[in-house]
Amino acid sequence: MNKRNTLRRARRRTLFPFGRAIFVRTMLLTTLFSLARNGFSQEIAEYFRTRCTSCHTIGGGRLTGPDLKNVMQRAAANGKDREWLIRFMQDPQAAIQSGDAYALKLQRETPGNAVMPTQPDMTRQLAGSLLDLIEAETKLERSQFAGSPISLAPFTPEDVQLGRELFRGSQSLAGGAPPCISCHAVQGLAALGGGRLGPDLTLVNERLGGPKGVSTWLLAPPMPTMQSVFKTKPLKPEEIHALAAFLDHSALQGAPADMSGPLGFFLLGLGGAVAGLVLVDGFWSKRFRSVRYPLVHGQQQEGDE
Ligand code: HEC
Ligand code: HEC
Repeated sequence: MNKRNTLRRARRRTLFPFGRAIFVRTMLLTTLFSLARNGFSQEIAEYFRTRCTSCHTIGGGRLTGPDLKNVMQRAAANGKDREWLIRFMQDPQAAIQSGDAYALKLQRETPGNAVMPTQPDMTRQLAGSLLDLIEAETKLERSQFAGSPISLAPFTPEDVQLGRELFRGSQSLAGGAPPCISCHAVQGLAALGGGRLGPDLTLVNERLGGPKGVSTWLLAPPMPTMQSVFKTKPLKPEEIHALAAFLDHSALQGAPADMSGPLGFFLLGLGGAVAGLVLVDGFWSKRFRSVRYPLVHGQQQEGDE
């Protein structure tokens, strides 16, 4: 009996060399500590959200202030270390007034040459924690502070024009993707109206639930061909806005481009990938016949713009 007790205690000792009570206490402390740390970084994130996101995104492009993704690397490339950024965040005006070249460059790049307001409660420690947060968010594929890059601004004629140029490739896409027209037709563009690998986009607005739907779709295309092209060569938010404007405009212009005539097929026959194209086209025309047929046959097509 006694012997068995000793044995049990010995076994317990190998599991908890410092005694079970100490083990439990250490676990408890570690848990509390990490909870506190998480609570702390949550607090910093909340601070950033309420105090900084009106002017900064992390990976969502410039607002009034620069996009803070990779801010440490950017500063380093300009000869500035973490310490300099901390001092800048504590007193941006002073950094600019000191005539520092990098601070002046930041200001020059700011619309209206605005200066970042001094945050009265910005201690060294807070600034450091904010930089840690920005650094951590920079490493994520998509930061919680990337914001919605989809602009809800009303479309201007310039947006439509830029969208048209991006669509047909007279202006290249910044990410290096091929122009939309190489795979898509749209009413009112060029004689042939565009490629046939992808569906006619004249009425895509209706299919995707309006301009916002189109933008959201383009931001992260959920379908295979588009995804394979744009995953590595993503569209910029401004490009998406312009393309959505153009597609919105084309939806108001009327019926899809009629590509089913003999000339269209003759021209398509010129490529080497005809077989593939025809196959894919068969698929799509089946899918869209219900839309296209009554439109093409029931309505006079409008001419090119
Ligand atoms: C009212 C707009 C505004 C707010 C709010 C704001 N900033 Fe800025 N921030 C700017 C502008 C503008 C610049 C560019 C320098 C300049 O012109 O003053 C800048 C620059 C910076 C830079 C240097 C960027 C670089 O590329 O080196 C950091 C870091 C920074 N801000 C962090 C913050 C943080 C953290 C907060 C929240 C506590 C914050 N900012 C709040 C407008 C703002
Ligand atoms: C390499 C050919 C290719 C290019 C370039 C391309 N697309 Fe596509 N797109 C497709 C294909 C194929 C589909 C059908 C879905 C899929 O497989 O991805 C599609 C689908 C779409 C859809 C959804 C249509 C619907 O009715 O659901 C939209 C919107 C779209 N593309 C817009 C664009 C825009 C805007 C561009 C130019 C920035 C573009 N595409 C460039 C091939 C392409």
